[in-house]
Amino acid sequence: MEKIALTKKKQTKEDVLRQSLLKERGQIPAHVAIIMDGNGRWAKKQGRMRIQGHKAGVDSVRDTIEACAQLGVSHLTLYAFSTENWRRPKSEISALMKLLIQTLRKETLNLNKNDLKLHAIGELDRLPPVCLKELHEGIEMTRDNQRMVITLALSYSGRWDINNAVRDIGEKILNGKISLDDINDETIHAHLATHDMPDPDLLIRTGGDFRISNFLLWQCAYTEFFITQKFWPEFRRSDIYEAIETYQTRERRFGMISEQLYKKEKEKAAASV
Ligand code: IPE
Ligand code: IPE
Ligand code: MG
Repeated sequence: MEKIALTKKKQTKEDVLRQSLLKERGQIPAHVAIIMDGNGRWAKKQGRMRIQGHKAGVDSVRDTIEACAQLGVSHLTLYAFSTENWRRPKSEISALMKLLIQTLRKETLNLNKNDLKLHAIGELDRLPPVCLKELHEGIEMTRDNQRMVITLALSYSGRWDINNAVRDIGEKILNGKISLDDINDETIHAHLATHDMPDPDLLIRTGGDFRISNFLLWQCAYTEFFITQKFWPEFRRSDIYEAIETYQTRERRFGMISEQLYKKEKEKAAASV
């Protein structure tokens, strides 16, 4: 496997072993989505400003990206700023946008070197122009990369996404491009911001809250959830491994019963001999 180096730390033998065990034991989720929460509480716990928590969270992002790419995750979607986060104090919003600009400037080349593709979903036009420019440059530079797609959900909300899809589909019906009978799961999927990726297999939320906070509402219909009490700045690759280990113990029945799943597995195995 090709080397990856975002954190500049040499991969330890234990880490290589842990990753190969995960790969042997079960399936690695193709799409991991993360609600990176708890930056403010982490900072407050240490008597620091909220922005210090956001800054510390960048190291968690780097380590998470590196570990996921090494494991063979194909899509990593990070909830970085929600539609509702625009309701925060102006000072926090501008500090966050500044951090986003700095991080994009610093990391894009590195993403490119490591064959990682940057992507973004959300109401991006609401971002400050400089931020949007950095984002577009990063997306353009990494557009042909193959190893893993990193999607930043920025100014994103699940309801915004569904609203857009409904409007686009409605317009096509009015223009006679499609008919009412054409509306089904596939059509709706095709009109969402996530139309070019599979639904998340695993959703991780840090910070201990058991809620979805308007993230990928349609897309998470059958996603497995993993919630950790750890705050985002404390999150590291060992937590990703724990989340995937837990994911591998889950039985994803998709409404069926266990026996049907075993039967399907057996048929698949028989067909591949
Ligand atoms: C998540 O951390 C980052 C963003 C929402 C931008 P928070 O800023 O929500 O941190 P807490 O939840 O208040 O601790
Ligand atoms: C969710 O965190 C959004 C992001 C992590 C970007 P919030 O802190 O905004 O969520 P709530 O308000 O606690 O639900
Ligand atoms: Mg929060």
